[in-house]
Amino acid sequence: MTFSDTAILFEPFHLKTLSLRNRIVMAPMTRTFAPEGIPGRNVADYYRRRAENDVGLILSEGTVIDRPAASNHPAIPHFHGETALAGWQRVIDGVHQAGGRMGPQIWHVGSVANSMTDWVPAAEIESPSGLLSPGEPRGIAMTDEDIADAIDSFARAAAAAKALGFDTLEIHGAHGYLIDQFFWAGTNERSDRFGGATIRERAHFASEVIKSVRVAVGPDFPIILRVSQWKQQDYTVRLAETPALMTDWLAPLVEAGVDILHCSQRRFWEPEFPAIDGESGLNFAGWAKKLTGAATISVGSVGLSGEVMGAFAGEASTPQSFDALIERMDRGEFDLIAVGRAILNDPEWVSKVRGNNSAAFKGFSAAAFGELY
Ligand SMILES: Cc1cc2nc3c(=O)[nH]c(=O)nc-3n(C[C@H](O)[C@H](O)[C@H](O)COP(=O)(O)O)c2cc1C
Repeated sequence: MTFSDTAILFEPFHLKTLSLRNRIVMAPMTRTFAPEGIPGRNVADYYRRRAENDVGLILSEGTVIDRPAASNHPAIPHFHGETALAGWQRVIDGVHQAGGRMGPQIWHVGSVANSMTDWVPAAEIESPSGLLSPGEPRGIAMTDEDIADAIDSFARAAAAAKALGFDTLEIHGAHGYLIDQFFWAGTNERSDRFGGATIRERAHFASEVIKSVRVAVGPDFPIILRVSQWKQQDYTVRLAETPALMTDWLAPLVEAGVDILHCSQRRFWEPEFPAIDGESGLNFAGWAKKLTGAATISVGSVGLSGEVMGAFAGEASTPQSFDALIERMDRGEFDLIAVGRAILNDPEWVSKVRGNNSAAFKGFSAAAFGELY
């Protein structure tokens, strides 16, 4: 396999207090290696290996905020409590010693169960309207107090991220979890100020989270928000069918304080909308950047065949050229590219890209989920 000049991937990136040595981001990936929510030395070493091998920005696995039902697996790390935060201190110190940059992905799973376990939190599962997906009840609808505390919990986690020395943070607003359940009309039937017929109204919860996070971290600390059209409950759902609706959805969130939109799609090369005025080829991150002016991260099947949900179902993947990515980045369609499975599987992946050592790229199989390489 050959691939084109990758120089664009290795250009530095600067935004507010964040300075990255290159444009490659380790995508957030839940690993469930943190018993009782505490990330140990093995987790710190796993992230440090990525920093030692040139990853520009590491986004942590989803790490949960301080709400009783924010997690759906006992080995998902917490981002609250003295012992868990001490574990995260070790993580960020190791990454910094290796010259890396990192942000935690802060998360509340809403009413989504984890397919790997029957474990459920001791508290009631919570979501905007007590639904997992349209017409499928799970857990309870959040009260005003629950919502206020969830917003405050995101802000407390953000303050902790900054205090520990992280370089940025990502709020998980994608893939059908709590924040996305507020966005999605199918799971948000509220008639108060957190619900409504329009995506702009249903974005109110996210806006409130972002505003409180912004207050917690101050004006100069970069905030990333991850969003997706697709839901794990239904890959075909689209929150914004048109660019105008995408503006209604995302512009208020940028206004509320987001610096970087992390636009999750399963295949980065897929156009976001059918042909519109010569912009037909733009992907989700391309459109989000064009419509909001925010910096964006793209993601989805870089360097590997297949896609993430197929990998969860056991499909193996082989290394693939990413020339199409280089072309898009050369055009300035988006600013940064996140890579999931390829970096999960191989801590040296970015060094290999830099060295043009494509012969050394590895394929991916489900066995990788069980290892912290
Ligand atoms: C094991 C695994 C765990 C994941 N966990 C998360 C997560 O915690 N938060 C999140 O936003 N995305 C998560 N994802 C999605 C990835 O961030 C990424 O969007 C997806 O894997 C597509 O990128 P890829 O094709 O390069 O793997 C996960 C993916 C994998 C493979």
